[in-house]
Amino acid sequence: MAQLVMVGACYVDTILSVDHYPGEDEKLRASSLNRRRGGNCPNSLEVLQQLVHHSQTDLSLSLISVFPKCESDSTTFIRQSLGSSINCDGCIYRQDHTEPASSYVIHSQKTNSRTIVNYNDLSEMTFEEFESCIGRVQLPANCWFHFEGRIPDTTLECILFLREHHPSVMISVELEKPGRPGLEKLAAEADLVFYAKGWAQASGYRSMEECLQSQSQATPKSKYLCCTWGENGAALLTKFNNSCISVPALKISEFEIVDTIGAGDTFIAGIFFGLLCHNDDWNWTRKLRFANELAGRKVIQNGFQGLGSVMTHHME
Ligand SMILES: Nc1ncnc2c1ncn2[C@@H]1O[C@H](COP(=O)(O)OP(=O)(O)O)[C@@H](O)[C@H]1O
Ligand SMILES: *[C@@H]1O[C@H](CO)[C@@H](O)[C@H](O)[C@H]1NC(C)=O
Ligand SMILES: *[C@@H]1O[C@H](CO)[C@@H](O)[C@H](O)[C@H]1NC(C)=O
Repeated sequence: MAQLVMVGACYVDTILSVDHYPGEDEKLRASSLNRRRGGNCPNSLEVLQQLVHHSQTDLSLSLISVFPKCESDSTTFIRQSLGSSINCDGCIYRQDHTEPASSYVIHSQKTNSRTIVNYNDLSEMTFEEFESCIGRVQLPANCWFHFEGRIPDTTLECILFLREHHPSVMISVELEKPGRPGLEKLAAEADLVFYAKGWAQASGYRSMEECLQSQSQATPKSKYLCCTWGENGAALLTKFNNSCISVPALKISEFEIVDTIGAGDTFIAGIFFGLLCHNDDWNWTRKLRFANELAGRKVIQNGFQGLGSVMTHHME
């Protein structure tokens, strides 16, 4: 059975909806409170687990992330949100902390603005912690590791460690957060790189094709590069023959765009579903179309629920 191990941070968002954005020292009553688990890798895994379940294919899914104390309410909340088919044995618990990495969001209904205050007191995973996690898990022959491009120095050490000790492992990385020096070094070591629109724009690219063609030179070891571009869709470059394919974003006229949080993570889930569950029977055009349609279905609904079932007819 193939395995996908995703390495990245987990967040808990608390969203307070208010009529208007409060002034300093103002007292205000919120009309609703919503809590949801976020984080790029957990989001992708949540979607992938649904796809695997609905297609009745076999794929083992694991998360390596830093959690607060094992017995804390927030850890229970996070683990419940992930469901039982995501293996968290490699997760790292900070026993002296009870709060997860958190975002507190004030959502003003009047202007639709979202003001965010972050709190994160959990120290990041160290290379030594990663190394000891890997020591504890069995890696099958067909194994992918995906890294959220977060802490470039540590991530680079992790990638080089895998290359040395587990040379058959395939490695991917996502470049999302603009202006984080060192992310390019991760891309240069990966087999597959995902470029997010925000990163590409901040790097001066005006289109996904331009980003991919230009990054192609900077990533001599990579095999595939993907770039997503919101309402413009997504593109994929296959290194071996320098062929670039792109697909326009899904447009379903009777639906409004309601929630784009995690669209990129959903796209990544779709690509992995193609790569790991349909590597031989779907060509790259089909893999890209599937991921793009999956992400397009996500933005017309809140959260990730039910994405597996809406895609069932595309999964044969
Ligand atoms: N307005 C939209 N309409 C249809 N699909 C969309 C829209 N916004 C995003 N998507 C889908 O989600 C994918 C990722 O979008 P993007 O905005 O680049 O991600 P993120 O902002 O989460 O990094 C796109 O490639 C597309 O498939
Ligand atoms: C390039 O190679 C990929 C992967 O082998 C293949 O799917 C695609 O059809 C090729 N494209 C062209 C234009 O030859
Ligand atoms: C890829 O597969 C689709 C069917 O899923 C087919 O229509 C298309 O022609 C194929 N593309 C290539 C380049 O083989």
